[in-house]
Amino acid sequence: MAEYIIHGGRKLQGEFTVHGAKNAVLPIMAASILTCDESVISGYPEISDVASMKEILADLGCRVKCAGGIMIVDSRGMACCEVPDDLMKRMRSSVFLIGALLARCGMAVISRPGGCSIGKRPIDLHIKALTQMGVRIEERDGQIVFAAERLHGADIYLDYPSVGATENVMLAAMGASGETVIHNAAKEPEITDLQNYLNSCGADIRGAGTSRIVIRGKLPLHGTCYRVMGDRIEAGTFLMAAAGTGGELLLKGADPRYAKCCIRLLRFAGCTVKKTDEGIWLKAPERLYGTGTVKTAPYPGFPTDLQPQFAAIMTCAEGTTTIEETVFENRFGFMKELVKMGADIEISGRFAIIKGNDFLYGKRVSAPDLRGGAALVLAGLMGSGRTVVENIEHIERGYSGLHRELWMLGADIDRCI
Ligand code: UD1
Repeated sequence: MAEYIIHGGRKLQGEFTVHGAKNAVLPIMAASILTCDESVISGYPEISDVASMKEILADLGCRVKCAGGIMIVDSRGMACCEVPDDLMKRMRSSVFLIGALLARCGMAVISRPGGCSIGKRPIDLHIKALTQMGVRIEERDGQIVFAAERLHGADIYLDYPSVGATENVMLAAMGASGETVIHNAAKEPEITDLQNYLNSCGADIRGAGTSRIVIRGKLPLHGTCYRVMGDRIEAGTFLMAAAGTGGELLLKGADPRYAKCCIRLLRFAGCTVKKTDEGIWLKAPERLYGTGTVKTAPYPGFPTDLQPQFAAIMTCAEGTTTIEETVFENRFGFMKELVKMGADIEISGRFAIIKGNDFLYGKRVSAPDLRGGAALVLAGLMGSGRTVVENIEHIERGYSGLHRELWMLGADIDRCI
């Protein structure tokens, strides 16, 4: 099993250009089966979740070619509506295939989706919404079969603005007759990116980025060339890495509009952050300040996907920080590893109280999930001595060459097998 070996204590300095967003490219890849044509997708990140989605598309009968940073998905020969169990279990994002397969084939056969173990992650909201569109759902031999003789548009109210449910309904609605309206839709920028991709293929979707999305069913779509948006979570992770190590970073390729909450928090912690023509520039103080209470929330709130990284850098801040995790119920798993490194953290339900220490010690720690793993890397960069982060396959699901990028910024980090 591969691991990162980090010798901490170096300030990160230099420039970093973000990769394409994991949470945008995966639904876009699923959506590519609606085109019955070629989609040319650029800016995609080289991460293992993308590799898994490529395998799923190939298994469904699509041809997927990647060269020179360009991915071409040709879905003309797609002939299957069943996602193999092992691939479905590998990642959560395989869930988007339900909506896409229903729209294209009227049927989707899947097993329960996998992904990070950061909570129960049910799909009841997806199921409730799809049922309103004429989908019948039954469980057969451990598989879930979604079938619709005729998908129809519907007025759908989501009880919670779920990212996955919003995207799944958008995809299914493409194959439905009439208009579908999603109320209380998630507003994440990646949903706008999915809308932009589909509209570039000839779809008629309006409202993404707001809580009301209107989709007019229309298939087949035509092919397109599309560049995926920059990864705001990777951007936030690198800003926090620079902040935690007392460094200075020019971040390129990230839209500052989508990083507002993160920037505000880092300023509050004592960093100087400026938006320049080239991107976002950050300079950290010698020691960060604790920021009081921080609560995760759906966009435009503070992203749950940056909570672990922020918690890591607050372990050495001056003062106390309280984190309230409101999105996923089991997202503090990485904290027991931070405690091994000397962090002072008390967990009480969905609250974590972090009292800033003078330093962290290098230790052998294990990544429990993707973002929790990134937090442990940040802690290793901040700590004194040698940190070994095990189970980095979780981290590599979502970060493209993390150790190489950090090394380029001056970190002492190596990847060993
Ligand atoms: C997406 C992101 C993930 C991010 C999360 C929150 C992708 C591939 N993943 O995940 O990185 O951490 O948004 O921004 O884009 N819920 C239900 N029932 C459902 C669906 C969700 O109860 O049917 C709950 C979940 O358990 C969770 C909350 O709603 O507590 C948010 O989930 P959701 O927004 O759906 O997140 P994901 O789409 O899984």
